[in-house]
Amino acid sequence: MKSNRFVLTALGSLLLSLSVNAQTLTLQIDKADRSVSPTLYGLMTEEINYSYEGGLYAQLLRDPAMRELQEIPRAQGQQQQRRRMGGMQKPRAWVPTDTLNVTCRFVNNGFVVNNSATQIANTRYTRHNSLSIETKKANEGIENNGFWGIAIKADTKYTGSINIKGDSKVTVGLKSAKTGAVYASQTFTVSGNTWQEKKIDLTTGTTDTETENGVFFVLFDKAGTYEIAYPTLFPPTFNNREHGLRSDLMTMMKDMHPKFLRFPGGNYLEGNKFNERFDWKRTIGPLTDRPGHQSPWGYWSTDGMGLLEFLTWAEDVGAEPILGVFAGYVLQGDYVEGDAVEPFIKEALEEIEYVIGGPETKWGARRIQDGHAQPFPLHYVEIGNEDFFDRSGSYSHRFEQFYTAIKAKYPQLQIISTQDEKTLRANSNDPQGLKVDVIDEHYYRNTEGMYRAAQQYDSYDRNGTKIFCGEWASREGDPTTNMNAALGDAAWMTCMERNSDILIAHCYAPLFVNVSQEGDDNRYAGMQWKSDLIGYDAFSAFGSPSYYAQCMFSNYLGDKVIPIESADIPNMHYGNSDLPQLYYVATTDTSNGTIYLKVVNGGSTKVNVKLNISGKKVSTSKSEQVVLKAAKPEDTNSIDNPKNIVPVTSKLKVKNGGAITIEPYSVNVYVLK
Ligand code: AHR
Repeated sequence: MKSNRFVLTALGSLLLSLSVNAQTLTLQIDKADRSVSPTLYGLMTEEINYSYEGGLYAQLLRDPAMRELQEIPRAQGQQQQRRRMGGMQKPRAWVPTDTLNVTCRFVNNGFVVNNSATQIANTRYTRHNSLSIETKKANEGIENNGFWGIAIKADTKYTGSINIKGDSKVTVGLKSAKTGAVYASQTFTVSGNTWQEKKIDLTTGTTDTETENGVFFVLFDKAGTYEIAYPTLFPPTFNNREHGLRSDLMTMMKDMHPKFLRFPGGNYLEGNKFNERFDWKRTIGPLTDRPGHQSPWGYWSTDGMGLLEFLTWAEDVGAEPILGVFAGYVLQGDYVEGDAVEPFIKEALEEIEYVIGGPETKWGARRIQDGHAQPFPLHYVEIGNEDFFDRSGSYSHRFEQFYTAIKAKYPQLQIISTQDEKTLRANSNDPQGLKVDVIDEHYYRNTEGMYRAAQQYDSYDRNGTKIFCGEWASREGDPTTNMNAALGDAAWMTCMERNSDILIAHCYAPLFVNVSQEGDDNRYAGMQWKSDLIGYDAFSAFGSPSYYAQCMFSNYLGDKVIPIESADIPNMHYGNSDLPQLYYVATTDTSNGTIYLKVVNGGSTKVNVKLNISGKKVSTSKSEQVVLKAAKPEDTNSIDNPKNIVPVTSKLKVKNGGAITIEPYSVNVYVLK
């Protein structure tokens, strides 16, 4: 629009500006014909940064499967280190209560295991290793401090089970690592050399001090040799699901109103090697039947968070799955071709059947047996993850094979490619005939990159293949992102929302990071990827400013995009150049006429903008504004200061033709009734 030099008229509003600025946003309601995708805002997840182990999956005990051996410092040779430790590596998570009188080691079917990658036998309990404990003193045993401490809370019931061999009175409980104070304990008797499963029920009292430095212990009342296998311990879980998920994190996600959950990765879907992929059939059924696997992010996954847990997670936060299926390519670069792809296609078809099949189908029946009678909703299936890294050209063929087989059985499903369309077609044997429903694009940038990309989708072909932005983030600040990142995120979201006729869905990554610190340098022990959305330790969780920006964008959304004409929007100096200071988008809810205008101010100065809303009256009594702002772009939230930057809602007294003041470093939603 041509720049107009308006002199603003006072409209009896506090926020109404009397300045002579001519910055104007004109909302063209009569041209609001682009539909907003109903699946626009969602979540992406994988096992990274201790997202499930020590994160969302509420199991409190680390390494129930007895796999993790103490890391050997690289500088010292393995042999030398093993000799120093008496010929074997020690269990990492299971620690003797008295190092002089108690020794413990992993065994499998009676054999000592000192290489964590060995021996998966086929009988119950020995499928996993067990822990052999030899104590020379009465009332000693072993401890486990979970993932950098267990959260012991007042008036809380902790439940689980433990398998034990040996003759003893056994006491299990929870205590403080600092003071030794016991908050809850339970004693039972075991006898004989066969496995006995004991239920654990530990309830803390009202007067307990809450502690995040808790330890689980198992003590034997006399000296002897014992074995324990697959112990579990859970606090109350979200919706009381058995071996379920952490309530605080689930509530935070529910507050985002996500429409979908993209899982199980990310790199976690692929794995470094074929036997480290997300092999879904090994992640269902009783926990003790799940062998677990190495995650590409460098630690062991018990697969307690298995396919059914992902699906019920989506269900519990009101989202539907976007299911990533393994596509025959692993991170180390190996891939299969031709007939060798077929077993993986079969695996994917069976996985889809597990998700949506009825009782008459093999895998639908298995899901029902596993405890979920109803099929889950499913509209999108993604073939692999980031196959743009596969430079061999094999993805085109693999994709076509998967596409044809899935569409033949499930024509209703939309199939997502992880490679761009040009490359996909270039390597195809039938570029014209190749069909693709949606393309997944990933963008990790800094905030400047997001500002620069904030018009990216405006020029995309409106009739082209639909886009899914399946991973993106402004990577500034760690372990969780800061306000500057939230500004870049919000600018990028204005672009995606404005173009949600072609961009069907998007999700931020990574979602989670365990922010526990250890060592002299206070390093973030659980973090492999800097700049994450939600941080937590054993005890509490917090959202980054980016998290709150996501909530604001997702929660205030109409069903049609309103085109905006602007005039005289100022520039800000950013990096080495000038960039626009404001980024904006508007939608309307056509059922009630409400307008949601989102404006991001990336600059250090406030900006007064005149609002023109063609053909509409705005109610001054019902309108609201929601503001997320910070004094400095580096300001952030943390585990110790979780609510430093949060959105604040207030009345908005502005009429059509009035002005709004947009604070420095702020993300704003104007709800215009
Ligand atoms: O989100 C972190 C990683 O980034 C994902 O695992 C991968 O898909 C991408 O490269």
